Amino acid sequence: MRAKNRKTIAVSTGGGDCPGLNAVIRAVVRTAISKYDYEVVGIEEGFNSLIEAEPPRKLTLSDVRGILRRGGTILGTTSRGDPFHYPEMRRGTLRMVDRSAHVLRRIEELNLQGLIVIGGDGTLSIANELHQKGAPVVGIPKSIDNDLSATEVTFGFDSATVTATDAIDKLHTTAESHHRVMVIELMGRNAGWIALVSGIAGGADVILIPEIPFDLQKVCAKIMQRSRSHRHAFSIVVVAEGAYAVGGSAVYLPQQGDGGALRLGGIGQQVGDLIAARTNQEVRVTVLGHIQRGGSPTPFDRLLATRFGAAAVDLVACRQFGRMVSLSCNQITAVALKDAIKKPKQVDPDGEIVRTAKAVGIVFGDQ
Ligand code: F6P
Repeated sequence: MRAKNRKTIAVSTGGGDCPGLNAVIRAVVRTAISKYDYEVVGIEEGFNSLIEAEPPRKLTLSDVRGILRRGGTILGTTSRGDPFHYPEMRRGTLRMVDRSAHVLRRIEELNLQGLIVIGGDGTLSIANELHQKGAPVVGIPKSIDNDLSATEVTFGFDSATVTATDAIDKLHTTAESHHRVMVIELMGRNAGWIALVSGIAGGADVILIPEIPFDLQKVCAKIMQRSRSHRHAFSIVVVAEGAYAVGGSAVYLPQQGDGGALRLGGIGQQVGDLIAARTNQEVRVTVLGHIQRGGSPTPFDRLLATRFGAAAVDLVACRQFGRMVSLSCNQITAVALKDAIKKPKQVDPDGEIVRTAKAVGIVFGDQ
């Protein structure tokens, strides 16, 4: 027999999606029901369904059956669901309004004992602000970019690097056949983790990341050296979307007319065009884009997502709000949300991974 007054907890996914979100939702639901006998509801489309006072979606064990390996999120997500800056049409004009009080009221009305927020730095900053105003929030770090400093790794990153490495492997075979320079632009925002890790794993010749502004002369010198010393030369150039030349700045896509945030993109094509002009080699450019965010999570991400999800429910049960689960020395631990969002995690240009890459001959355009 189940107790009549079961406590209710909620889970939401915000910001860009990534592989492993469903694995976290499944772990939250299973742990909450099996270990604590909670009811679980899903908040759909980031915080939007709280803001719009839509009824939350009940999540049972059967709702999460079969979703461990599924990409995306069954709850939907959005990068435009900030209750502190929520777009609202007033007298024909679009304004940003603060709907946070409304969200707090909804949490009370629904009698939520805990709200587990799965997100990257943007969503977790909102979660922290809501917590400062009294919401019983626990955070879980997700991002393909791996740019959160309070955890060794975010879930989603491993899956994205597997996809990116696979793409580089595929470019390798065609580059080799045609003796071409293949440039591939990868995601990561202002952190070069995806480019660095998949570039090394995929045997790139050049890796350009935001943390190391590049000199194109040095990039071209590497390509020319390869073309002189191998009869059938080809080169693989991995470019992080946030990379930029010494003295230059990051490249953004033309803004769409929907008032959305600025999006990085275009540096791969710029680098490719310049290499072609300066080396006289045949160059092709690939932009991998959102393929990095899709598909099934890797076993590593499924495990991490499951550990994060279960640990987040434990935090709710102990009323440890305002905390975020994190991975430290391969153990799951918890850190204060306010510390977790303080500083983005970037690649250390003098760190061991970059030094290793340089030791095996990869050029970053800085020397
Ligand atoms: O933060 C994840 C990420 O995929 C970044 O790597 C990328 O710059 C951005 O989101 C793309 O955002 P959108 O899905 O809005 O185009």
